[in-house]
Amino acid sequence: MKQIGVIGAGHVGLVTGACFAHLGHSVIIADNDRRKIEELKKLQLPFFEPGLEPLVKKAVSAHRLSFTTSISQLTAESEIIFIAVGTPSTSTGRADLSSVEQVTVEIASALRSLEQKERKKQYRVIVEKSTVPVLTGEWVQRTLALLAPEKENVDIAANPEFLREGNAIEDFFKPDRIVIGTENMRAEKIFRELYAPLSAPMIFTDIKSAELIKHASNSFLALKISYINAVSQICERVGADVTKVAKGMGLDHRIGGAFLEAGAGYGGSCFSKDIKAFIALAEEVHYPFTLLKEVEAINRRQQETILHKAREMLWNLKGKRIGILGLSFKPNTDDIRESPAIFLLQSLHQEGAALQCYDPKAMNNMKRLLSFPKYCKDPYTAARNAHLLILLTEWQEFKKIDFVEIKKSMKTPRIIDGRNFFNPCDLRNLGFIYKGIGR
Ligand code: UGA
Repeated sequence: MKQIGVIGAGHVGLVTGACFAHLGHSVIIADNDRRKIEELKKLQLPFFEPGLEPLVKKAVSAHRLSFTTSISQLTAESEIIFIAVGTPSTSTGRADLSSVEQVTVEIASALRSLEQKERKKQYRVIVEKSTVPVLTGEWVQRTLALLAPEKENVDIAANPEFLREGNAIEDFFKPDRIVIGTENMRAEKIFRELYAPLSAPMIFTDIKSAELIKHASNSFLALKISYINAVSQICERVGADVTKVAKGMGLDHRIGGAFLEAGAGYGGSCFSKDIKAFIALAEEVHYPFTLLKEVEAINRRQQETILHKAREMLWNLKGKRIGILGLSFKPNTDDIRESPAIFLLQSLHQEGAALQCYDPKAMNNMKRLLSFPKYCKDPYTAARNAHLLILLTEWQEFKKIDFVEIKKSMKTPRIIDGRNFFNPCDLRNLGFIYKGIGR
């Protein structure tokens, strides 16, 4: 059993902390948002993630998981300290590392205030868990060396996170791989023990390579999506079916079938932020990573594709009623950050369409951002009297929709399937005018 501290109670921090506690470790999570910590103490989670709430409740009642606003308390109590604070984009696209710096300064100050004897006795490893650009580890190391110069027994490591929102618990317990950047055998041993129960392949590298693995992986996944989205445009122009093309490509092991689903474009807080940060980092080291700029541009154009399709189907958008199914950037989350829905809702509204939306989890978040759409209690209400229905997020519950009912209540039975989620033949047989993506 290890004493683990996690700084940052966001998606990565909370999931990581709860999962380590589930494995039997003693975990303390710190966040400087007092309200969030107070709510967590009352077992109220700040976001929806399938399976997380029971995990947190169980770990708290077993006294293996606790919450604090004090980094000094966390530092004093922990052998392994994960830094899982936000690293948002600045206006230039670079990662804003001010929270990482702030936390490092606070850890250094906590280390300084520990008794000399205690510092010598207790070995600590400070781990970058958030997605950070390469060379961040060096800055953390430098900052600690400057502010806690007598920091005996402290090492730095990078252990990037590969959790997907909506699937995070499963991703934690069954990862494809665990990446550890460490330049120290003692830290390596701790990580081997920590992750032994997961029996996943572990790769040990230097810190810089581990940092790069995360940015290179996320950018590559986004590249795969933009690639298939570009192919989908060709498919539409020549009358081919991108789902079949993707299947045929993906069966080649060298390519792989995952992340080849054409759609309304990628969203979420990670891909767009990480690509920008990777481009900015590349520029700093004098490499023009134009390939990634094109990945971004294709994604922007793909989001516009749905708008063009709506215009094609409805002629004028002004005065038309449009039902929207799905607002979150992907299913099984209430997260709307960078969701393609935001751009589309704003554009349709600007052109004078009336919007009726439904999402199983993300409506409260969208309401806080956009007040103009009507938020509906179910898909049927969202479709009522609509001239067009647009699916943006492939929530499983939409598979159960009774389209006979939907068709009866719509003004005109038109549908844009922004995720190629429905069977086009079924819908066409029911009398819908159906448009998917790239087919
Ligand atoms: C992504 C990575 O997949 C995780 O490995 C990583 O840990 C995480 O970012 C992070 O850096 O924290 P996430 O953004 O939660 O995870 O979600 P994804 O499942 O990767 O989906 C991202 C977006 O791509 C979604 O909008 C999704 O709809 C879209 N997508 C995904 C496609 O358009 N097509 C696909 O084939 C796959």
